[in-house]
Amino acid sequence: MEDDKHHADYTTFSASQSREEVLQTVIDSYEALTTGQDNWVCNLANASSLLWHAYHSLNVNVNWAGFYLTDKSVLDKQELILGPFQGKVACQQILFGRGVCGSAASEKVTQLVHDVNKHPNHIACDGETKSEIVVPILDESNNTVGVIDIDCLDYEGFSEVDQKYLEELAKLIIKTCKF
Ligand code: SME
Repeated sequence: MEDDKHHADYTTFSASQSREEVLQTVIDSYEALTTGQDNWVCNLANASSLLWHAYHSLNVNVNWAGFYLTDKSVLDKQELILGPFQGKVACQQILFGRGVCGSAASEKVTQLVHDVNKHPNHIACDGETKSEIVVPILDESNNTVGVIDIDCLDYEGFSEVDQKYLEELAKLIIKTCKF
């Protein structure tokens, strides 16, 4: 981290930046904040804050930004458990294969959902959510460590641009966090 910068300054995004520039700033800030820090709770908590403030600076109506992690304490099934996030109280557990998050976790593929009503498997933690993107976080052995989940109050809140940067963030999370 730069010496003259306060931690909170990382959540100030310039209003004139494009979506690509803002998302690149999220990546760069995450990298700076995780230098010398490998605790996943700490790093994903700050990542949630970066994502929340980044999308709000772009006037994207994000109502939830955060993480679900593979629960290693559950041995008889594969399940995600709620991790660090910004937004309203959310579902605590999601089985692999269930909901958009569980689909990303089991299929190991990003889920870009333009209209949650058209997704047969969507779990409505918040009935106001209209679209979402869920990106799997895969370790070096291609195991699902967790997912990045971002929800929006508008239809078509996210595109392939978001997918590109969030998939990069997922890779960086694997490099920087001990799970
Ligand atoms: N939308 C998710 C559930 C998690 S909450 O929205 C925070 C899903 O369908 O998997």
